Amino acid sequence: MGDVFGVDRNNPTQHEMTLAERLGPIFERKLLDVRLVLVAGGELAGQCNDEDNWARALAGPTLKFRGITGSGLFTAKTSDPLWGQARRVLEPGFAQSALRTYHAAMQSVADDLIEYWSGREVVDVHTAMTNATLEVIARAGFSRNLGLFTQEGVDPQAQTLLVALDQVLTWASESTNDLPVVGQVRGLFHERAFQANLEKTRAFIDGIVADRVSGKEPASDDLLGLMLDTVDPDTGEKLPHQNVRDQVLTFLVAGHETTAALLEVTLWYLAARPGLAQQVTDEARTRGFDYSGVAGMRTTRNILNESLRLWPPVPGIFRVSRKDQQLGGYDIPAGYAVFVLTLAAQRDPEVWGPTAAAFDPERWEAKALREYPDRYFTPFGTGPRSCIGRAFAMQESALLVSRICDAFELSLAEPAAGSDPEMTERGTLRPVPFSVKLSARAAV
Ligand code: HEM
Repeated sequence: MGDVFGVDRNNPTQHEMTLAERLGPIFERKLLDVRLVLVAGGELAGQCNDEDNWARALAGPTLKFRGITGSGLFTAKTSDPLWGQARRVLEPGFAQSALRTYHAAMQSVADDLIEYWSGREVVDVHTAMTNATLEVIARAGFSRNLGLFTQEGVDPQAQTLLVALDQVLTWASESTNDLPVVGQVRGLFHERAFQANLEKTRAFIDGIVADRVSGKEPASDDLLGLMLDTVDPDTGEKLPHQNVRDQVLTFLVAGHETTAALLEVTLWYLAARPGLAQQVTDEARTRGFDYSGVAGMRTTRNILNESLRLWPPVPGIFRVSRKDQQLGGYDIPAGYAVFVLTLAAQRDPEVWGPTAAAFDPERWEAKALREYPDRYFTPFGTGPRSCIGRAFAMQESALLVSRICDAFELSLAEPAAGSDPEMTERGTLRPVPFSVKLSARAAV
């Protein structure tokens, strides 16, 4: 049986982080006949980020998502020609110049959120961040307002999408963490409901694409416009429609759950530390909220980076060895996949110093840290398969966090039991849903 009963199905990667404290920077778990090597040390994780010797492996939860997002960027095999074509077509959609054009859409979501929260004393951060990040990707990427902040209530189509997306994500992560037999039994019960929800989600997306193609919705240079209209210079072809649908679903899933997790963690620390929130406010009021103002918010970005270091929304990535090699003194054959536990590696005192476990945004001002190569700080993955939405997520998060601090003083509705948020896992690592108390922050 191996260590089958030692797996924490609710918080697998947090449990593995505590195992690493006992077992060291590299260890193996045996689950029935499956062996999994975990890399938890900062230095060894850094070695796995070397693209000459390692590559991205399609394994674990990502493999489960393949049934949902098919040949979308996140779940396509690197050897699939459509992955390279989509990456070339979409890369400009995430460049700085494109982010500038999305700024108005991001601002409109921030406006709606602030208005929605105004006059309320206690707000549910989890729901608000889920809605805000979905709205940002829908408005900036596909020029669609989902209406998630309207007082009249959510557009029924968007409501269907929300419920379906939530169930699809829950099922995919449950089936990854389950014991094999439990997973099969659960699968039998859930399969029909899952497929029905997936169909609803796809129908919603097909509607968005069809409206654009038919001209019912005007042409736009957003992500959808890029995907439908760009001819790939290498192949001379446009992306097939089936692939465009997979990409839209990919962006809805990959773009909201992770960014919501980052925002929630950051708001938790800001609510627990009013001095930090004051720094964000001061910076916002000095720089302003236009594109360049937000892009240069150094204090706010240090805080976001520190959230990503301690609580990476994607707590680990799979890497496959390109050749026979040694890692931490163990032989790793070519083709062997390991799980790099980013969550543990980004807290390794050998790399991050004796205060590695503390939330300390100031550390990002240290010269030595600014010079750290991407080798040690990898919340967005690494190499050619790293996150295409990195700059998008950082700009969106800096804007939302600074707008919230500018408008409100926050405090935790339930006094914190410790100095860090309690976290839960569903593929991503997110805080257990929490609420904050709000009061209007005085204008300057
Ligand atoms: C890939 C994290 C936001 C779209 C990845 C990977 C990570 C990651 C770790 C690589 C996974 C692996 O190697 O297996 C994050 C985090 C985010 C975030 C922490 C927010 C804080 C976004 C946003 C979008 C996005 C906003 C889109 C709008 C993607 C896509 C890929 C990806 C399409 C696959 C890229 C490829 O394989 O070519 N992300 N992501 N992500 N992310 Fe993100």
